[in-house]
Amino acid sequence: MVRKRTSMHGQWSSRWAFILAATGSAVGLGNIWKFPYIAGENGGGAFVLVYLICIAIIGIPIMMAEIMIGRRGRQSPVNTMYNLGIESGSTSHWKWLGWLGVVAGFLILSYYSVIAGWALNYVLETASGTFTAMNAEAVSSTFGSFVGNPMALLFWHTLFMMLTMFVVARGVSGGLEKAVRFLMPGLFIILLIMVGYALNTDEFSRGLSFLFEPNFDNLLYKHQPGGEFILNTSGEKIFTLEYVLIAMGHAFFTLSLGMGAIMIYGSYLPNRVSIAKTSFIIAGADTLVALLAGMAIFPIVFANNLDPGKGPGLIFETLPLAFGHMPGGVFFGTLFFVLLVFAAWSSSISLIEPAVAWLVENKGVQRVRASVIMGFACWLVGLLTVFSFNIWEKVYPLNFWKFKNKTFFDVLDYLTANIMLPLGGLAIAVFSVWIMSRGSSADELEMPENASAYNLWYYMTRYATPIAVLVVFGNLVGLIDF
Ligand code: PHE
Repeated sequence: MVRKRTSMHGQWSSRWAFILAATGSAVGLGNIWKFPYIAGENGGGAFVLVYLICIAIIGIPIMMAEIMIGRRGRQSPVNTMYNLGIESGSTSHWKWLGWLGVVAGFLILSYYSVIAGWALNYVLETASGTFTAMNAEAVSSTFGSFVGNPMALLFWHTLFMMLTMFVVARGVSGGLEKAVRFLMPGLFIILLIMVGYALNTDEFSRGLSFLFEPNFDNLLYKHQPGGEFILNTSGEKIFTLEYVLIAMGHAFFTLSLGMGAIMIYGSYLPNRVSIAKTSFIIAGADTLVALLAGMAIFPIVFANNLDPGKGPGLIFETLPLAFGHMPGGVFFGTLFFVLLVFAAWSSSISLIEPAVAWLVENKGVQRVRASVIMGFACWLVGLLTVFSFNIWEKVYPLNFWKFKNKTFFDVLDYLTANIMLPLGGLAIAVFSVWIMSRGSSADELEMPENASAYNLWYYMTRYATPIAVLVVFGNLVGLIDF
């Protein structure tokens, strides 16, 4: 048996600290901003169902694998994969998997910060009463003119990136551990209040059935965002697994999987904490937050005749409407956006942590400098997203294949969430059960090798998870056509 390593970057103070930090990473814009709008664009109920299935059969096993690998390696994903690759008798080339994650996290943060900047701006707008008694049209046009203004986006993007780097520079366990302790429960409570508000709109049941009643045609056949089917020349609907891929990609995104964030958090996890239990808690909390966000948003969408497929602006065009009309709306609205900023904040630090830890480990750069360097580089790339909503709204940089008619923001989003994360997750699954020995994984998961829980994980990760990912991918690249 190998001697257990320790991490040079420190360790979480307890199991709860890890759960909170990992939940902080998982719960973010993905749950509250992205999940409702992509569910809206991709047909509601059936999409949500596939997303839930992906969480269960792909997300949880891979989360366990990632935490397990992280804790075994106790270094940045690049070095962890390098060492474990050698230790398992395979090759040091597994470090490229670490690199894939570093790059994915970097690219995600570049646009994540811009959207989190929107939330920052909405804190101010809501607090100053902008939305009080506004109608749906005015709320939409407020949003439109905000994102149409590159200087405004730039300002908030810069501010958010600075906030992120501030925490990363101080190290993960210092400020962050304490902050998430209050923020996560706070976010949860305010979401419940929002659902309570939605319950009183006339369209609560319509919102619920949109979210939970599967209509598989919307999921399996090409359609316009949230609308009509696209037909082939003989007038038939066109089958595609593309929306299934988006649901799967989102399962990775929302659980922070496939890019080393959870791996590196796992590397700060004390020994003798159950990885299986913590994974269930994190995935459960994350899913609950997403579903609550959906239940808060869709009734408002339908009650105001808004289009569920309106895209990335969805929450910014719906929730302010509710805040503008409810008693205490200025207070609750401000609180909501503050918490959204915090949720994004605790996610964004985990996006850049693998890159920063690598700089510290391999280049001997001090943590503060490493944070500044990475933050600045990421901020620069973020400009592509800033301009995607205004002056480059019609610029389609990679105008081919799945990237047709996609802005820089759309390309970054598609590339990371739907390609890089599932690929990374697939490789992590393969590594954990095909390359690592059963002895090592069972030891690190702290389960006896013959326990049924261990074997359930093992066979899921060995067969179900990779096959599911490969089928969906195979369809994407045209290898599998049904
Ligand atoms: N899980 C985060 C969210 O849902 C985003 C994220 C992805 C964070 C990947 C870290 C790694 O908002």
